[in-house]
Amino acid sequence: MTTPDPADRVLARASLAEGNPTGWFEQLYTAAARGEAKVPWTRNVPNADLAAWVRPGEGRRALVVGSALGDDAELLSSAGWAVTAFDVAPTAVEAARTRFPESTVDYVVADLLKPPGEWHHAFDLVVEIINIQAMPRDFRAAAIASLAGFLAPGGTAVVSEVAEENVAPEPGPPWPFSRAEIESVAQDGVRLVSLETIRDGSRYWATFTR
Ligand SMILES: C[S@@+](CC[C@H](N)C(=O)[O-])C[C@H]1O[C@@H](n2cnc3c(N)ncnc32)[C@H](O)[C@@H]1O
Repeated sequence: MTTPDPADRVLARASLAEGNPTGWFEQLYTAAARGEAKVPWTRNVPNADLAAWVRPGEGRRALVVGSALGDDAELLSSAGWAVTAFDVAPTAVEAARTRFPESTVDYVVADLLKPPGEWHHAFDLVVEIINIQAMPRDFRAAAIASLAGFLAPGGTAVVSEVAEENVAPEPGPPWPFSRAEIESVAQDGVRLVSLETIRDGSRYWATFTR
């Protein structure tokens, strides 16, 4: 007997077969809300690496990419950042608003592949944690270009993805990153500041500035 695929991979495959790289996220969140699936990245606490890294915001603007249920956005907000947080899945955005009714975070439904024009060079901190790797590699260059475009002069981008060099190859999601792909966030005036592996080498943690 074979082990059934987790719901995220089954939904991802169907969505990708229809040429839609992101439709499965909304399907997974709604299936989870019905108790029919688990969202594997849901922790109900902020990302531990971001919690260890976070700096005081002093009212500056932060953008959280793929904000899911809002824990990382709320962490940054409590550190003094003026946070915009976006996710392509409306159910996730609504769940974040419901979980944090008093929040000052601006939770928005948006697609990294087609972001609002006013976000260009607009954020002093941009946080991207394991979202781009959840889309197939065909979309990676466009997603990275979009990400780099959010960063304001003098700002910091934090990027963390599963490290290809230290994980066994498996059918995605996720589709892990190479070092060169992480480094490619340094484009269009963005510079790499640091790149390290964390979590026993299984993830990259990189910072950039413009
Ligand atoms: C693997 S989860 C990671 C969530 C969160 N960043 C974390 O660290 O737990 C990917 C998230 O990004 C969202 N997402 C995927 N593609 C996206 C896109 N193109 N634009 C915006 N959000 C996207 C998904 O809906 C999902 O909430």
